[in-house]
Amino acid sequence: MNRIRISGVGCCLLDRIYDHVDFQSETFRKYLSKKAGDGGLEPGKLTFEEELEHFAGQSFASDILPLLTEGRAPQKENIGGPCIVALINASQIAFKESLVSFYGCRGDDGVGEELLQKLEQTKLDLSHYRIQRDSETASTSVLSDPNYDNGHGERTFVNTIGASWHYLPEEVDDSFYDSDICVFGSTALVPRIHGGLCAMLKKAKAKGRITVVNTVYDFLSEKEHPGERWPMGESDESYQYIDLLLVDHEEALRLSGCCDIPSAIAFFREKGTGAVLVTNGAHNVHLWANSPLFGKVKEQTMPVSEAVGKALKQGRKGDSTGCGDNFAGGVIGSLAKQISEGLHSSLNLKEACRWGIVSGGFACFYYGGTYLEQKEGEKLSYLQELYDKYLKQEGVC
Ligand SMILES: Nc1ncnc2c1ncn2[C@@H]1O[C@H](COP(=O)(O)OP(=O)(O)OP(=O)(O)O)[C@@H](O)[C@H]1O
Ligand SMILES: [Mg+2]
Repeated sequence: MNRIRISGVGCCLLDRIYDHVDFQSETFRKYLSKKAGDGGLEPGKLTFEEELEHFAGQSFASDILPLLTEGRAPQKENIGGPCIVALINASQIAFKESLVSFYGCRGDDGVGEELLQKLEQTKLDLSHYRIQRDSETASTSVLSDPNYDNGHGERTFVNTIGASWHYLPEEVDDSFYDSDICVFGSTALVPRIHGGLCAMLKKAKAKGRITVVNTVYDFLSEKEHPGERWPMGESDESYQYIDLLLVDHEEALRLSGCCDIPSAIAFFREKGTGAVLVTNGAHNVHLWANSPLFGKVKEQTMPVSEAVGKALKQGRKGDSTGCGDNFAGGVIGSLAKQISEGLHSSLNLKEACRWGIVSGGFACFYYGGTYLEQKEGEKLSYLQELYDKYLKQEGVC
């Protein structure tokens, strides 16, 4: 059997989690934002390392971070970034049917080594994962205060784009465009790729590939033009080359400039997108399609997994990091399975969405975005169980 080739370009980073950072402490408050967009820290939000350094006049790595964490090492280090997390889940679901490759770059530092060592525990093809000399590997420092907001807890993120600033569309070689499915994952965090997104999508479509875009909060656009609608890459022309757009509720509204999901879907449709899935945490998923690839799927909603909600209520532990990224991976993995079954010209969007829903739900059962398997097929067997329950759930068609 020929394996279905899935190739993804976009964000891959190391999440470094620092627990028990006191957001009320004098040290933390020193770095708090005074006015929107000034580069200071904001609980619940992401700040770029460069901007925080500019705000504070200090180095993040050698001054600010050691002060905030009292010199402690991170409690956990996980593979993060919506592109890589989605690809890993897709490779776990379609482990028999697919070959999944990641295109991106890392720095030649300790963070990069750490990340690579974790990635080598997955089935991903990393032969297109380059090293950029003299640069830092992208990372997110996740500062967590479990006591913040009367014990509800909150996290504050500091993102280092690092080597990802230097990764260019020209470095994505032809093998990417020779894949069955071309995934563009959270390219807003790989600025040059995002700036060439439309051209890359166009090239993939010209070769007859299936194009999937999963998005991330576009912090750079937001910083440059606060409150304005975010463009899709270099221009909204990109939409006409997207077969399937995967967005969360907030991204759908910010990309479309609309106030509700039906209007946002109408916006994406008018711009030429083939199909759209919009997630919203524990709320229903919205879906719509009208394209040769998926046929006509009227705008509708699908519930999330009740089995997941029930387990969480019963105290099953984990966090919601990477739910959306795993949702995207579930969808992509299902598409690969469908293609391998010979369904190339009429893919089933609802079936793909079901695998997204159980994958996003399963991500609530562990900490961080990526589940590293002990053996092949391990995660699929858990997901299959959730999938079987989901099919019996009321309201699921
Ligand atoms: N509490 C929950 N119960 C059941 N399923 C959930 C829950 N939270 C998330 N999910 C599943 O995960 C999917 C994606 O979640 P969500 O919309 O929060 O993604 P996101 O905002 O992109 O998250 P992130 O960017 O952190 O990965 C949901 O559509 C749902 O299927
Ligand atoms: Mg997301």
